[in-house]
Amino acid sequence: MNNSSFPENFLWGGATAANQCEGAYLEGGKGLSTVDVIPYGEDRFPVLLGEMKMLRCDDQHLYPSHEAIDFYHRYKEDIALFAEMGFKTFRLSLSWTRIFPNGDDLNPNEAGLKFYDDVFDECLKYGIEPLVTITHFDVPIHLVETIGSWRSREMITHYERLCEVIFTRYKDKVKYWLTFNEINMILHLPFIGGGLLFEEGENKKQTMYQAAHHQLVASARATQIAKSINPDFQIGCMLAAGNTYPNTCAPEDVFKALQVDRESFFFIDVQSRGAYPNYALKMLEREGIHIEMASNDIQTLKENTVDFISFSYYASRLTSADPNVSKQTEGNVFASLKNPYLKASEWGWQIDPLGLRTTLNTLYDRYQKPLFIVENGLGAVDTPDEEGYVKDDYRISYLKAHIETMRDAIVIDGVDLIGYTPWGCIDLVSASTGEMKKRYGFIYVDKDNDGNGTLNRSKKKSFNWYKQVIQSNGSLLTEV
Ligand code: BG6
Repeated sequence: MNNSSFPENFLWGGATAANQCEGAYLEGGKGLSTVDVIPYGEDRFPVLLGEMKMLRCDDQHLYPSHEAIDFYHRYKEDIALFAEMGFKTFRLSLSWTRIFPNGDDLNPNEAGLKFYDDVFDECLKYGIEPLVTITHFDVPIHLVETIGSWRSREMITHYERLCEVIFTRYKDKVKYWLTFNEINMILHLPFIGGGLLFEEGENKKQTMYQAAHHQLVASARATQIAKSINPDFQIGCMLAAGNTYPNTCAPEDVFKALQVDRESFFFIDVQSRGAYPNYALKMLEREGIHIEMASNDIQTLKENTVDFISFSYYASRLTSADPNVSKQTEGNVFASLKNPYLKASEWGWQIDPLGLRTTLNTLYDRYQKPLFIVENGLGAVDTPDEEGYVKDDYRISYLKAHIETMRDAIVIDGVDLIGYTPWGCIDLVSASTGEMKKRYGFIYVDKDNDGNGTLNRSKKKSFNWYKQVIQSNGSLLTEV
C-alpha cells in the first residue's frame, strides 16, 4: 500500500473486444464468426436471442463488426495512446476465427497468430501487460452450422485446441487470461453468449444449461492446459455482475433477489469453488433439466478452479416477487425494475457507484479470491465542439464515483482488488445495440451509426483525467 490506498502494482488500464474494435473481418485468412453476422438495426435483438436465424450477411443489413474501428490496421496508434495515458494493462480478446477460421481446422492460421504477436509486442514495448479474453462473444459460424455450437460437447475439443495453441504461442507474452467473457450471458442472449439457435417448441432452458455445462468444462480444461504450459499463468472467470436489490423489505422480495443473483453466481460458483452448488442442482431437478456429463467432468471442474474472479459492472438491478410490480427499465439485457433512488444513462442503465462496492464485497465474501474489474463505464452520446473536442464531464463523474467506491472496498472493507480496466477505453461498437453512438472511450473515434466517418482518433477531456488517475495511482480523482 502507499498514500493512494490502491496497491502499488494495481493494474490500471482499459478494455476492448475483438469484434467490437478490430474490423478487417475477413482479412488475414480470418473465417466468419457469429459476431460478424449480427446486424445493426431492428433485427439485431432477435438475432442476439437466437430466435432469428441469420448465418450469412446480406445486402439489406449493416454489420458493425466488419470494419468496427479498424483496430486491426491502427493498433499501433491506439496502443501508443493507451501508453500515453499510462496503462499498466490492456484487455483485449482474440478472434477465434483469425486463429482457426472454421473452428475445427487441424492447424492454426499463422497470419492470425502473427497479428496477436504483433499486438502483444506493441503492448510490451510500453510495459503494458496484455489481459486476454479467449472468447468474447465469438463462435466460428462453421461450428454453429455443423454441430450447433455450444449445445454440442464437441465444442470442448475445439476450444481445447485453441487454448493449447495460444497458451504455447504466447506463453512468454501474456500472463492474465479470461476463459469466457460474461459467461452468464448465455442465459440472457444465447446467440451472442454461446452461438445457440433454437427450434420452435424446443426447451430453451435445457439447451442453455447443457451448453453452459460445456463452457464450464471447457473453462476448467483451459485452466488445466494453461498450468501445464506455464504454471505462472493466472486464469480468471468473467461474470456480468451487479447486485440485485429487493424492491421492498418484504421477505418475499428479499428472497427473490437472492434467487435472481444465484442465476449468475451459479457460473462462478462452479468456476471458483469447483462444483455445482446445491441450489442449482435442486433447481435443475425441479425444472426437469437433465445435464449430460462425461464421467470425469465433476473431477475436471473440481481440480481446475480459477485463480481470480473478474467481472463487468455497469449497474445494479432491482427485482420484486410481486407480479403486479412491473416498471421495468429499458435497454438492459438483465431485467430490472426502475430504482427510484438512481439516475440512469441515456440507455436506461441505472448508475449506482455504491452498488459496485456492494458487488465487490459480495464477490469477495463468497469466493475469497483476488477480484478484477474488467469492465465498467458510461455509454453516452458525445458531441464534439467546433474543434472536435469532447468535454465528457459526465463520464469523468461516473468513473470518479466508481473509483471512489473501489477505493473504499479496498481500504475500508479489505477487498483484494487487483485491477481496473474501464470498458471501451477507445470508442467502439456497442454489443447490445450495434451503435457507435453509445460511446465509452477516453479516445473519440470519428464514425457514426451508419458507418460514416474518417475513423480519426482524438483525445476527450477524460483522457487527461484518467492519465492523472493512473499517474497518481488513484489518489488524484478531481479534474485537471
Ligand atoms: C458487456 C460486454 O456486456 O458490456 C461488452 O462484455 C459490451 O462486449 C459492454 O460492449 C457494454 O455494453 P454495450 O451494449 O453498451 O456495448
